[in-house]
Amino acid sequence: MKLLFVNCCISQRGESSRTLALAESYLAAFRAKHPEAVVETVTPEQMLALKPFDAALLNERDALAKAGKFDDPLYDLARQFAAADHIVVAAPYWDMSYPAALRTYIEYISANGLAYHYEMDGSHGDCAGEHLVYLTSGGDFEHEDSVGVVHWRQLCTLFGIGQFDYVFAGGLDIDPAKTPALLESACELARRLAEQD
Ligand SMILES: Cc1cc2nc3c(=O)[nH]c(=O)nc-3n(C[C@H](O)[C@H](O)[C@H](O)COP(=O)(O)O)c2cc1C
Repeated sequence: MKLLFVNCCISQRGESSRTLALAESYLAAFRAKHPEAVVETVTPEQMLALKPFDAALLNERDALAKAGKFDDPLYDLARQFAAADHIVVAAPYWDMSYPAALRTYIEYISANGLAYHYEMDGSHGDCAGEHLVYLTSGGDFEHEDSVGVVHWRQLCTLFGIGQFDYVFAGGLDIDPAKTPALLESACELARRLAEQD
């Protein structure tokens, strides 16, 4: 079993990032249940170094796809994502969505011909993943239809990943006295989710 941890925990809190705490709670419980799991991580630095697609890069990718060269380094992140059995994405709630670096990462993994393809009836997913978990933490309480949650749910449909779950650790910047308890209850939810896998 291959677990991919997409770690977009860019934070001024460094290792004390609450989003990272949520992810670590999930991953510790997952590792305890699946000691055989091989964990690969995409780091914040990797994502921040990605160049967003412009016309030239899109043309390059299209040419590679036309030639069937999906082993090109431009497809490294897409191949890694498509091969994972289980995916955990962790990112803070920023500006009602998530950091731009994660959006750029999504451009790299959304590879037509590798992660999904089109047929006459529309798109079909080609990813091996069975379950994707999205973990986020926000200063405010959770709003319905949070963009990150909706986006990753729709991406799962596009990629053919059957199960989607998320944990939103909300309200963390409202009353500092309540922050530890709010975060801990979200971490507990994450642990319980991992124990079900
Ligand atoms: C650039 C930036 C944008 C943010 N935007 C929002 C927002 O739109 N809504 C919200 O509830 N909190 C927002 N916050 C607060 C963070 O989501 C919150 O503090 C979160 O717990 C940070 O996670 P971390 O500890 O992993 O850095 C924002 C914080 C930053 C730094």
